[in-house]
Amino acid sequence: MSCTRIRVVERGPMLVDGPVEITMPDGSQVVSDRSVVALCMCKRSKIYPFCDTSHRARRERTPVAKAGRAAEDTVG
Ligand code: FES
Repeated sequence: MSCTRIRVVERGPMLVDGPVEITMPDGSQVVSDRSVVALCMCKRSKIYPFCDTSHRARRERTPVAKAGRAAEDTVG
């Protein structure tokens, strides 16, 4: 038996080995034939159920992330 591999990215998408066929709450079907499909976990994606990296902007707005980025900007 082969298993579908799913990897959950902390504060990011869920990476699913494709191709996938997703049934949405309204019953519609969404298909992707990519070898790895990033599924949005934050529900901010404009192409939901797929990840469009909008989760990164959310992370950037937190004070800790801003402080970390400021520290990175001063290095090098
Ligand atoms: S997890 Fe990437 S946009 Fe939602």
